Amino acid sequence: MTVQLADQLSDPNLFRQQAYINGQWKNADNGDTFAVMDPATGNVIAQVANLGASQTVTAIEIADQAMRKWRLQTAKSRADILESWYQLILLNTEDLAIIMSAEQGKTLAESRGEISYSASFIKWFAEEGKRVYGDVIPLAQSDRRGIAIKQPIGVVAAITPWNFPSAMISRKVGPALSVGCAVVLKPAAETPLSALALAELGERAGLPAGLLNIVTSEDAVAVGAVLTTHALVKKLTFTGSTPVGKLLMAQCASTVKRTSMELGGNAPIIVFDDADLDLVMPGVINAKFRNSGQTCISANRILVQKGIYQEFIERLSAAVAEFDFGAYTDKSSSHGPLITAKAVENVHAKVKKAIEQGATVVCGGQLSDGPGHFYPATILGNLNSDMSIFQEEIFGPVAAIYSFDTEQQAVEIANDTPFGLAAYFYTENMRRCWKVSEALEYGMVGVNETAISAEVVPFGGFKESGQGREGSKYGVDDYLEIKYICMGNVD
Ligand code: SIN
Repeated sequence: MTVQLADQLSDPNLFRQQAYINGQWKNADNGDTFAVMDPATGNVIAQVANLGASQTVTAIEIADQAMRKWRLQTAKSRADILESWYQLILLNTEDLAIIMSAEQGKTLAESRGEISYSASFIKWFAEEGKRVYGDVIPLAQSDRRGIAIKQPIGVVAAITPWNFPSAMISRKVGPALSVGCAVVLKPAAETPLSALALAELGERAGLPAGLLNIVTSEDAVAVGAVLTTHALVKKLTFTGSTPVGKLLMAQCASTVKRTSMELGGNAPIIVFDDADLDLVMPGVINAKFRNSGQTCISANRILVQKGIYQEFIERLSAAVAEFDFGAYTDKSSSHGPLITAKAVENVHAKVKKAIEQGATVVCGGQLSDGPGHFYPATILGNLNSDMSIFQEEIFGPVAAIYSFDTEQQAVEIANDTPFGLAAYFYTENMRRCWKVSEALEYGMVGVNETAISAEVVPFGGFKESGQGREGSKYGVDDYLEIKYICMGNVD
């Protein structure tokens, strides 16, 4: 069944099903399309242009031409356009949230939150683009002057995920455009509509044609191969899984492209027995169940000190019993579905394996009937680090609870993973706040707090969780080249 998403919007022109190249809405050359579904119902909500390799090449060539003028504009004039784009995103929050919920499944409240988060990156980078400073370097020779200037790296290819269909775009496109680059973006095939709506608003904000090109496609392999090997692309930015990130990095090696990677996580959340459980419970619920557990910084391993283990489980079970999984159109829904039937299968397989290996099911763990890709809130206890779930990113609403005795043991368990994106812990002990923060091998650490993301802070991971940082004052660095100029014979 095809559902008329445009009819739900105040501005139906935000609903776009064609790709966006050179400021024009384009079908695939061969007319091919792919279906986008509402994960809560399985209904088809759009048929989107399914582009291939040759239109990706065209988009890159157009981006290269467009950025020649854009890079010569003042940072202020670029910032003015980005500022208008930011305002338009905010003004259209409700429509953008409906589009996002329809294709991704998250509740409207979560989508509204993501739109505001997404817009914040555009504003932040509009401002940061004006602060790309260089240096004057003292040299050993009195007749010489050394200068370092920063210049836009070139055409940026961006590949973005389905779990945050808007914010993962703006935190890449914002810095790229603000410093003078052009972008060719491939959004996830599950959630292309949010990207296309952003492009529509970018055009209304005055973004010149060719600077932001959206290549919609179901053929990630063909489009990815072009984005990672074309000589005109100077940088690839990717958010997604570690295995795919490694493959893209290998492909980028052939033309020595700059890469920045936001990859998988295996976040621990450590609850020490001196923690304030009234503070802990909302924090754990946010870290574990936001977006139904489909975030790279989801609490994947919940480590609870033995003295409070039982009380913690009881309180978490009581909180989870209040959840209401449902469609975004149902106002009572507190949590949405998983993205696809395959995602439900994957989560369930991990739960079943954990049970086979000795986990106990405190609640959930059963597949539900009915339409939509729903998985119930599940709590697993009696886990240990020998079980496969300890090393797997669950990406679903499954709270995996482990117990520990000492601080040292907790830190060792937390660091026992090739991943290093986010970690959290709760304690009332000041010494522990410092020592454990320093000991955790993670790019981001939340102390007595799990809502740690914002446009002003550096988001990124250690180890196999990636390289580079997004957001913050560091978020423009990956889009810039540093050029050293030596002025000689200054006598
Ligand atoms: C992610 O899951 O990678 C993004 C989460 C966030 O920005 O908070």
